[in-house]
Amino acid sequence: MSKIIIANWKMNGSIQKINTDLMYYNQHLTSNIQKCSVVLAIPQLYLSHAASLCKNDMYVLGSQDVSIFENYGAYTGEISAQMLKDVNVRYVIVGHSERRLFLNETQNTLIKKINNILDMGMIPVYCVGENLSTREKKEHMNFVSDQLDILKSINLKGECVIAYEPIWAIGTGIVPHEDEVSEMINFISAYTKEHLNVKMQLLYGGSVNINNAKNILAIDNIGGVLVGGSSLNPEEFINIINAVG
Ligand code: 13P
Repeated sequence: MSKIIIANWKMNGSIQKINTDLMYYNQHLTSNIQKCSVVLAIPQLYLSHAASLCKNDMYVLGSQDVSIFENYGAYTGEISAQMLKDVNVRYVIVGHSERRLFLNETQNTLIKKINNILDMGMIPVYCVGENLSTREKKEHMNFVSDQLDILKSINLKGECVIAYEPIWAIGTGIVPHEDEVSEMINFISAYTKEHLNVKMQLLYGGSVNINNAKNILAIDNIGGVLVGGSSLNPEEFINIINAVG
């Protein structure tokens, strides 16, 4: 399976940045791009503009969120899975810790979102991960297991991706030891086989940069990376893509 490299721009960027970054990618990408799927999860407002620029198959579009409501309706400010599909979005991030924390997203909300994404034939990227105190209490496996439990109530038709993003590694420059990443990835892999009976691609996210990407991508069973801050620097992002072995 080819590796998935996702740029999560979060609430950053502009039309101009999209123009210049895509131009930079086009000029600097090597044939390594063929070894992976590069997903640009830029702010939803700019997806349509990026879609008009991504005419080749080199990148696919990702959304950072989706509405709990289906299709169309009187839900002011919401953007549905159907609308994302309309602008060629293929991957949708769900359950990012920042949304769980700042927007109080609950497990029930996430079930609705994942169902909407799957119904439209798109691929959910379900984020899980513990905070520092949970890890220090050595409760991280149980915590992640509880977060994964919502997937049991979903008919996981089609592709689905899980991203392990320990909260203490997001935007901190601290990356877990490779053994810690490996332990959790193997735990999630065993969980999906036992409880969901589907094989999923498993990503790591949290302070991925040009210095650590190669080692992280070489960990057994890692299906790719979810990159925040480093994806805002086009040179760093291209180097992360080039780190795919
Ligand atoms: P950073 O790469 O900035 O740590 O962010 C990770 C992340 O939250 C990606 O979704």
